[in-house]
Order: sequence, then structure tokens, then C-alpha cells
Amino acid sequence: MDARVSEGPRLAGWSPPPAKPVFRLGRIHDPQNPMPQIIQAAYEQPVVRQASPVGAFYVVGDPEGVKRVFLDNVANYPKTDMERRLFGAIFGNGLLSSEGDTWRSHRRTMAPPFAPLSVASYAPGMVRDVADFQTCWDQAPADEPVDVARDMTRLTLQIISRAVFSTDGAELGEVMERSIAGAMDATRIGLADFVPVLSGLRMAAREKRIAEVFAEFDGVVARLTTEREHSPGGADLLSRLIAARDAETGGGMTAQEVRDQVVTIFVAGHETTAAAMAWIWYLLAQHPLAEARLHAELDAVLGGRAPAAEDLPNLGYTRMVIEEAMRLYPPAPGTSTRIALQADEICGVKIPKGAMICVAPWVTHRHRLYWDRPEAFEPERFSKENAAGRSRFAYIPFGAGPRVCIGASLAMTEMLIVLATLAQRYRLALAPGHEVELFHQVTVRPKGGLPMIVSRR
Ligand code: HEM
Repeated sequence: MDARVSEGPRLAGWSPPPAKPVFRLGRIHDPQNPMPQIIQAAYEQPVVRQASPVGAFYVVGDPEGVKRVFLDNVANYPKTDMERRLFGAIFGNGLLSSEGDTWRSHRRTMAPPFAPLSVASYAPGMVRDVADFQTCWDQAPADEPVDVARDMTRLTLQIISRAVFSTDGAELGEVMERSIAGAMDATRIGLADFVPVLSGLRMAAREKRIAEVFAEFDGVVARLTTEREHSPGGADLLSRLIAARDAETGGGMTAQEVRDQVVTIFVAGHETTAAAMAWIWYLLAQHPLAEARLHAELDAVLGGRAPAAEDLPNLGYTRMVIEEAMRLYPPAPGTSTRIALQADEICGVKIPKGAMICVAPWVTHRHRLYWDRPEAFEPERFSKENAAGRSRFAYIPFGAGPRVCIGASLAMTEMLIVLATLAQRYRLALAPGHEVELFHQVTVRPKGGLPMIVSRR
């Protein structure tokens, strides 16, 4: 089906997991697989029922099945209570954690600030942030690796801070970095979280800890919100969220709701994009033919200048590289677990009422029924010709259906600008002898960072 242009090595030893997961000291272990608990059959069959220490769950890998859960029968598959409470402790009633009428109203209210026209208006700020970031790589000592995963996190944090808070972004970025690190630690889930008496106690302790780590951030956001309310009309996301009105009811959001959305946007919006960027550099370094084709496109379209929003439609191969990297390493490899409110049938498999449902981009993107050579990095899969006829639900790095990522277009714009700017100037190589391992905690990142040698092209 797909033209194979960039052969490259097989990816870092990943192979489908064994028929039964390998439990080691209560944990399942595989350094190349963020979802080692999911059995091999899930990569070969449309829907698989799997036993686990916390009860049976159904892995839905088939695009038609994904469509059933995310779109056709979406009302039957809300997020699980545990996930809502866990996310709720960080995001309050933000889009990721709310359901029902609150979610519907906030999603409508927030649509305009994420629409293409608004997104294009954030592009010049992104270009400036990448230009500033270049000094950091310009000054990197030759032959000494830099941690590209850490650098991409800083850059994406800077970009989202500026998009949300314009000139106040620098102050908020640092505060947010500290809060997110504390909150991520507090969200670790263990088997004890599934024991009825313990789970309530553990969740209450977690909620208290998260409230503490966000106290400083909340104080600054409250101050900036009041300032914006007194001088409306700004173009940053915070001003737009404060001014936004629900198209159906005409209602706006309270200061607390705006705070919840801001935290959601920060957390959902920068770590995911940073993870995607880190994997892009890693994959390009392993696939010189793809890298050469990327460089050729950038040279032809931009000729050394910084990209503008109008250039992005002309960067077709650059976009394909990003898309293929997110197929192999979807930043949120497991999206979230859903629960079946009523019995249902997915791809001929009976789903009992109350069943847990796992739709995992990692599984769907590497499914043997839908992708040729699933482990190979082949950006050409995403050319117009090769993608024609492919189900929309076979490729879900941003999820799908009504709860699809609201920031997808912002993220694509950001990644195009970052990649187009930096790949024009630098070539990256993995630090000699470094073995990449995966670390999965909501997002999937290179464990312990990604040491790479940066050189000027
Ligand atoms: C490469 C970057 C990104 C990836 C891979 C990604 C992925 C996702 C996925 C898979 C979901 C759906 C989760 C589910 O179904 O449970 C989601 C939702 C969401 N994302 Fe993103 N995201 C990215 C960037 C962003 C950015 C830049 C923002 C904001 C600036 C953002 C904000 C959100 C929000 C608010 C939701 C919740 C939407 C809702 O439930 O209505 N994301 N994202």
C-alpha cells in the first residue's frame, strides 16, 4: 500500500507483547512498550476481552469499534469515575474532567478561541519563542549531548504560556512547571487505588496534595483574571476565555471555571506537544532519508527564513513527518478508559453493562489488520494518495468524536513552526551508545530524557 522511502532501522527493539503480560514484583515491565499490560491479541483482533488484577476490560483496536465508542454510541461510554476524580483534583471542572451539560456548554464556549482564525493569531508569538530558543542550541557545546526532551518541554511551556497569558507568560510558565511536576507525582495510581476502603483515603490525600501544589499558580491566575476583566479586549487565550459566551445560552464562565480551563489547557497542551517533538527528533535521527526529504522541502519553501502561518499549507512533507511520528508514538498512548453504561455490541463482541473499555492509540496505530509494516517509520503513509480511503478512526492521536482534542489545530500549528524552524538550522543525532526507553505516565516520553548531539546544518 505505502511507498517505502525511508527504510531506517527497526524501532528500538519494540515488538508486540507476549500473549500473557509479564508481571514483575506487581508491575508489568517492558522498556519499549508503554502499555505492556495489553496482550498481543489486541494488536491482531478487532476487540479483545482481557483479564487484569482490577477486573476484565475490553481493548477496542478496530477503527469501526473506536467509532462506536467515541462517536456513534458516545453517550454510553463516559470516562470512569476514578479518572474523572483524578483529573478533577487537578483540573476542577475543566474540559478534560467535566461531563454532561457543564462539559457541553464549556466546549461550545471555548470553541472560538481554538478556531483556525484564533490559532493563526498565536503563530507570530510561536515564531518568536522558537527564535529565542535557538540561542540555547546555538550555545550548546559541540559533541556534548543536550537533553532534547527537556528542551522541548521548556519550549512548549514557553509557547503555551505566551499564547494563554501573552507578556505575563514567563512568570506563569515557571510557576506552572513546578505545579505540574508536583501534580504528576500525585496522580500515580497503584493497585491499592482499586481496594474499596483504601481508594477513598488515597484519593482524598491526593486531592489535598494537588491543591497545595497549585496554590501559588491559582493565586497568580486569579490576579491576572481580575486585571483582564478590568481591561477587556486582549487577544491572548485568557482574555478570549473571559470574554467567551456560550452560543446557545449566552452565558460566560466564572473566574473559577476560567482557572480550571487554564490549568487544563496548560497541562493537556504542553507535555503532549513536547513528547511529540522529542519523538520526532528521535525518529528523524534514525531515518536519514526522511530527514533529507524534510530538509529539501524546508529549503525549497522557506529558503532559510522563519515560517509564517501562510507557509504551513505548503509544508506537506513536514506535516507527514509529524503525523507519522504521532502514529508510532502517540503522546497520549492510552487516551482514557471509558465505562459501558448499558450492554452493547462492538464489532460483533458483546459488551456487558459496566464493562471497562480501553481505546488506545498505541494499539490502534500499530494494529496488524490496518497498517502495513506497523513498526516502520514511513511518513509517506500520510500523503493524500496513501491516506485516501483510510478510516478517520484508524488514526487517533487527538482522540475522536465530540471529545476530540480541542487544541489539535493549535498543536499542529505549533509543531509545524517548531520543526520547520529548528530543522532548517540544526541536525540532531542520538548520543552514542544511548538506549531509549519509554516512560508512560499519561503521556509517553523517553525515560530519563533524550540525549542528542546538536550540530548546525
Ligand atoms: C500533540 C499534542 C496533543 C495531543 C497528542 C493531544 C491529545 C489529546 C487527546 C487524545 C484528547 C482526548 C482525550 C480523551 O478522549 O479522553 C485530548 C483532549 C484535550 N486536549 Fe489535547 N492533545 C494535544 C495538544 C493539546 C493542546 C495544545 C491543547 C490546548 C492548548 C489541548 C487541550 C485539550 C483539551 C482541553 C482536551 C479535552 C477536550 C474535551 O474533553 O472536550 N491539547 N487531547
